[in-house]
Amino acid sequence: MNNHERLLGILEEGTSDYVSGEEISRRLSVSRTAVWKQINKLRELGYNIDASSRRGYQLISRPDRLQVSKLADMLNTQSFGQRIVVLDSTVSTQQDAMGLAEEGAPEGTVVLAEEQTAGRGRLGRKWYSPRGKGVWMSIVLRPTQPLAFTPQLTLLTGVAVCRAIRRLTDVEAGIKWPNDVLIHGRKVSGILLESATEDQRVRYCIAGIGIDVNLNKEDYPEELSQVGTSLKIEAGREIDRTVLIASVLEEMEQLSKLYAEQGFQPIAMLWEALSVTMNRSIRAHTGQGITVEGTAVGLDPSGALVVETDQGERIQVISGDIQL
Ligand code: BTN
Repeated sequence: MNNHERLLGILEEGTSDYVSGEEISRRLSVSRTAVWKQINKLRELGYNIDASSRRGYQLISRPDRLQVSKLADMLNTQSFGQRIVVLDSTVSTQQDAMGLAEEGAPEGTVVLAEEQTAGRGRLGRKWYSPRGKGVWMSIVLRPTQPLAFTPQLTLLTGVAVCRAIRRLTDVEAGIKWPNDVLIHGRKVSGILLESATEDQRVRYCIAGIGIDVNLNKEDYPEELSQVGTSLKIEAGREIDRTVLIASVLEEMEQLSKLYAEQGFQPIAMLWEALSVTMNRSIRAHTGQGITVEGTAVGLDPSGALVVETDQGERIQVISGDIQL
């Protein structure tokens, strides 16, 4: 046991009370200054420790760190999350999940990280992934449908995230096509689906999910401060990331089962019901560089957004971005 663990052990014995610096210094056989330094080190690691000159130290809360065992205990699934990898820091969990998929990892394998140093967003954008504040997660999917159907999986993932958020908080999260999850018009979550193919056959997909969970307003960089929000900001309380991850994985498993049994139609219905895009005037910038204006009227069977122009023409938008 190192000194940190011994100090934590002593503080945990007295969670409802303070432990004096003198007692800690005696039990660890170190000076009072060394105790103070160690306390500060623990604070840097995310432990909230109160210090009172008369009474000593009290452990108020531990950091909310992701742990495979805690998540595995909480999960109520058959395939999603049966294999979980938690990384402290990584470039992008998409890359890690791809590596595992290449090695044959089964559907539902999950990679999570406390922070990403180069998180990837859609359309070549960056994804801000600060340490300990969010869910940065990639899931291996092994679809049997042809490549043209993969947009359906993106929409399915968006429904899973939106439902999990609604289940855990009282906030009215909605989906903006294709799969940004918004609360009060601000983005709280984004999804990036990447596929590895061979001759039009999908070898695997990686569903990357980013959820801003416990960010405070001041955690956002300038460029995101007006467009992004977090569950903590919206719900007014800290959210347990492990509980949220378990809910997302449970929703993913249930929706994937529904999709396998009944096809895309029930997923499309759920998506439309949660969507903030439906029946709204939108401008769509397609991946092909074309701009389409009109009313979003629904999803077509492949998962493309159908936009009706003022001239009554119906246009399918397969990829890209929209403005409401
Ligand atoms: C978007 O642009 O809205 C999609 C963002 C997807 C971010 C997630 S975080 C986990 C996974 N790893 C990444 O590098 N990106 C995705």
